[in-house]
Formats: sequence, C-alpha cells, structure tokens
Amino acid sequence: MKKVRDYYFQKAKKEKYPARSVFKLEEAQQRFKLLQKGDTVLDLGCCPGSWSIYAAKQVGPRGRVIGVDLHTTNKYAFAGAAPMQHLKANIFSEEIFAKLAATRFNVVLSDMAPATTGHKFADHLKSLELSRRALEIATAVLTTGGNFYCKVFQGEDFADYVDEVRRYFNKVKVVKPKSSRTESREVFVLAMHLKKEQSGTAA
Ligand SMILES: C[S@@+](CC[C@H](N)C(=O)[O-])C[C@H]1O[C@@H](n2cnc3c(N)ncnc32)[C@H](O)[C@@H]1O
Repeated sequence: MKKVRDYYFQKAKKEKYPARSVFKLEEAQQRFKLLQKGDTVLDLGCCPGSWSIYAAKQVGPRGRVIGVDLHTTNKYAFAGAAPMQHLKANIFSEEIFAKLAATRFNVVLSDMAPATTGHKFADHLKSLELSRRALEIATAVLTTGGNFYCKVFQGEDFADYVDEVRRYFNKVKVVKPKSSRTESREVFVLAMHLKKEQSGTAA
C-alpha cells in the first residue's frame, strides 16, 4: 500500500500539484468529461488547491474557478488556465451560501472531508453532513445540465444519499478512483446533467 501512496505522492510533486488528491479528479475527468472548456467551476473544500488548479487548466482561460475552504489556500495562476479565486469560509454559513447563489456554475466539485475521529460511523455521518450541504449548494447554483462530483465516506446511510442525488440529476454513478486508497471508505458520487426543474432552486 505504501508503494501506491508514494507513487501518487511523487507524481503530484513532479506535476507541481500541492496534493495527491488531484488524481481523484483527473481520473473522473478522463473517464466522464465532467469539465468543459469555458466552464465556471465551484470547488468546495479547495485547500491546498490541487483540484482548483486541475479544473482551471481543464476549463481554460475563458472559464473561472471559485473555491471555498475553512483554510487559506495559496494563490496560484498559470498561463492558459482559468482565473482562480479562493474564499475562506465555512460552507454551512448562510452568508457564503447567498454569495455563491449569485453566480451560475456549470460544475460543482466537493472533496470536503471532516476532521476524522477514528469512529467509522461518526465520521460517516459527519461526511454526509458535508455532502448534503454540498448537494444543497449545487442544486442552488448549477445551471440546467450542470455536473456535481462529491466525496463521501461510505456507511449505513450512503445509499439514501445517492437516492437524494438521483432526484436532481439524470445520471448518477459511484466512483472509486485508483488513486483512492483501498482501505479508505471514501468514494465519489458523480452526478451529471442537473434536471431542468432543479436549476437555481434557491436563487
Ligand atoms: C481533502 S481536503 C481537499 C483537497 C483539495 N481537493 C485539493 O485537491 O487540494 C478537504 C478540505 O475540506 C475542507 N473542509 C472541511 N469542512 C469544511 C467546511 N465546513 N467548509 C469549508 N471547507 C471545509 C478542509 O478544510 C480541507 O481543506
């Protein structure tokens, strides 16, 4: 297992990404093309910045990436990539919700993770709280046809969460990227094509 961790860690370092987590988005992008040139992307839990950098490169200079995290993220800018703006905020704050709802996004990403306790069920429930809030934000800010990619720690209530996501999107899939450690309970819910009647419901 250590060998796998080192491989993705070294690969991220070589490609100048601040975290190995970038490959969990890259694999989904290569398989499902959730990000398109010119897209406006919201990255929830964006620190230290790998997903935002990757998304900014994928959507290119006509696109835009806005990230939110409890922590400050270093500023990055790359030629040929979209401008990136990172906001320091808790995604449960109503102020940040109102601010985000003023913009229309094509894609919402969430790699948010709670501070883990080691108790699987408690960590699963905390992760679900983040994922439910991410879904609430996504359904408020996405344009019709928009995509959502969200990390969740699996557990008893995971199937209910997937059912909730299915209500809003036409195509939903559970993805376990190769770079995600096999012993980790994290999986990603990929939801594509927000249904027309669900777009901007909170705006
Ligand atoms: C695994 S890291 C994200 C890594 C990032 N995708 C990257 O590639 O660099 C998870 C992040 O979720 C953030 N987070 C957790 N709870 C949050 C909350 N309530 N509001 C905003 N961000 C939160 C954490 O601060 C942490 O930086």
